[in-house]
Amino acid sequence: MSSPPPTFLYGTAWKEDRTASLTELALRAGFRAIDTANQRRHYFEAGVGEALAAAYRDSIVTRDDLFLQTKFTYARGQDHRLPYDPQAKPGMQVAQSLASSIEHLGTDHVDSFVLHGPSSNYSWTDVDAEVWEAMRHERDAGRTRLLGVSNVSLGHLEQMAGAHNELPAYVQNRCFASQGWDREVRQFCQQRGIIYQGFSLLTANQEVMHHPPLAAIAEKMNATVPQLVFAFARAIGILPLTGTSNPDHMRQDLASLQLTLPPELVEAMESIAG
Ligand SMILES: NC(=O)c1ccc[n+]([C@@H]2O[C@H](COP(=O)([O-])OP(=O)(O)OC[C@H]3O[C@@H](n4cnc5c(N)ncnc54)[C@H](OP(=O)(O)O)[C@@H]3O)[C@@H](O)[C@H]2O)c1
Repeated sequence: MSSPPPTFLYGTAWKEDRTASLTELALRAGFRAIDTANQRRHYFEAGVGEALAAAYRDSIVTRDDLFLQTKFTYARGQDHRLPYDPQAKPGMQVAQSLASSIEHLGTDHVDSFVLHGPSSNYSWTDVDAEVWEAMRHERDAGRTRLLGVSNVSLGHLEQMAGAHNELPAYVQNRCFASQGWDREVRQFCQQRGIIYQGFSLLTANQEVMHHPPLAAIAEKMNATVPQLVFAFARAIGILPLTGTSNPDHMRQDLASLQLTLPPELVEAMESIAG
């Protein structure tokens, strides 16, 4: 169990029949961290497994080179294609979902197992607490190295900290520039040693993407605005996700890892919209 820490996550949502080919392309382009979910409504996890098998077969990567992350999704976030028995207790659903993910991905463990979202938008409920303890059990049994939570507010995290003696290794949230790039949650994470994963960095932030001064700076730096956004995200401690379907964008997104932004630009971008 020795996967390297991820630097950029390739997201596999909404790719349906193209999941296998695009994930394989992403691995060939150099992505080594993959984000998926056992939620057939938005992800085709077995397609990710097909891509992994093809990449192993062609010696592109070995399992040890990879960071594989998947999620447990409550029934309310699923369609009829559930990866568990809906009548089973929540803890059992967690175990069944992860067992199915492990099978889809052709592995014996994942690197990170994430609660896709709490059961209520407003609080960390008793069901969430039961699910979190079941996730810890899966981790202790070696079926995942690390645990995470997604789509959480500061309130969820504070309640979680009060209810459990262990916080997640990862928080994965949609990152709105208009909310200081999720400033409150990021600060909580930073104080507790939690790694913050940000998604929708481009799509949720059109005001940043079309900010004329940023386009001029990007041009001067021989980069694109999306590359600046990803480099900025890393500079403020965000582990970024991209779900691009375009091979050129795959290369550009990875190349942003080589980009270092001047501190005054990072500061300006952090408060660009909120
Ligand atoms: N936890 C959750 O609830 C949750 C929710 C949403 C997403 N996610 C995860 O996050 C991943 C990413 O999702 P996302 O919401 O960030 O959106 P996304 O699906 O990655 O969409 C990104 C958009 O940005 C464009 N793009 C990417 N790189 C670009 C570049 N270099 N230049 C120009 N355009 C570029 C893409 O277009 P092209 O395809 O044309 O490049 C696409 O339209 C998902 O696949 C999923 O794994 C998790």
